[in-house]
Amino acid sequence: MRLEGKVAAITGAAKGIGLAIADKFVAEGAKVVMGDIDAEVLAQEAGRLGMPYDVGDAGMKADADRLVVRTVEAFGRIDIMVSNAGITNKPAEFVDLPEEEFDRVIRINLKSQFLTGQAAARQMIAQGGGGVIINMSSVNSRLAIPTLTPYAVSKAGSTQLTNVMAISLGGHGIRVNAIGPGTILTELGRKAVLGDEAARVRALSRTPIRRFGTPEEVATVALFLATDDSSYITGQTIYPDGGRLGLNYTVPVE
Ligand SMILES: NC(=O)c1ccc[n+]([C@@H]2O[C@H](COP(=O)([O-])OP(=O)(O)OC[C@H]3O[C@@H](n4cnc5c(N)ncnc54)[C@H](O)[C@@H]3O)[C@@H](O)[C@H]2O)c1
Repeated sequence: MRLEGKVAAITGAAKGIGLAIADKFVAEGAKVVMGDIDAEVLAQEAGRLGMPYDVGDAGMKADADRLVVRTVEAFGRIDIMVSNAGITNKPAEFVDLPEEEFDRVIRINLKSQFLTGQAAARQMIAQGGGGVIINMSSVNSRLAIPTLTPYAVSKAGSTQLTNVMAISLGGHGIRVNAIGPGTILTELGRKAVLGDEAARVRALSRTPIRRFGTPEEVATVALFLATDDSSYITGQTIYPDGGRLGLNYTVPVE
């Protein structure tokens, strides 16, 4: 039980990667407050895990603040914040992308991490004893997809936000790291890059491990970053991507 006595909040915890992290943290003894905007699925999954939940939009300040308040109400403190909630934009070429779509994705993917991170950090500083914040980035923080402008920009922002937070909060004993997954088999993964068979084959051809990742394989990275196993790691982005980022143009695409 590597998280015994620890209290965590996770955004986007009803499905996919966030849910896998909630499952893993609970299995390791943590108390978890699950946040998500999908009330029905959230209630179902939180009920299954026997954990409290809070329905809200992680990109709205009142909701981000309330998730932390609710965590403290339920368990008296917060030790770990996982800012995981995220969406992809409706694919569009750069010149066609509507302004509202840019704003929407930046707010939900990037501003949410600022808001939840700030709310959690304020509480961690007030209670003392440090803490851990994990932001969900993506390989798209470095690899551009021209039809996913705000998604890629939000994830690059997440990586730099992680650096800024790590430097700013290091003196309080708060470590801040990011995870940058490759293609993971979730609803979002299917929408973003696995729309049809051709897209699936294309993505696989760019994945040296020759398969897509599972939410559990991202959750194990979150567990590592949440425990003292990573006690000297802060300001980093770790990429569980099956080798995607290492590919060079000299490698033939099959
Ligand atoms: N699946 C992938 O291939 C992949 C790759 C790299 C990064 N990521 C990142 O991982 C994170 C989780 O993605 P996933 O694949 O599990 O997606 P998912 O769609 O399976 O789950 C995302 C969850 O976030 C919730 N959510 C959406 N908007 C929200 C909001 N405004 N406030 C609160 N909750 C909200 C959804 O209801 C859903 O439960 C995202 O930040 C995503 O960008 C995913």
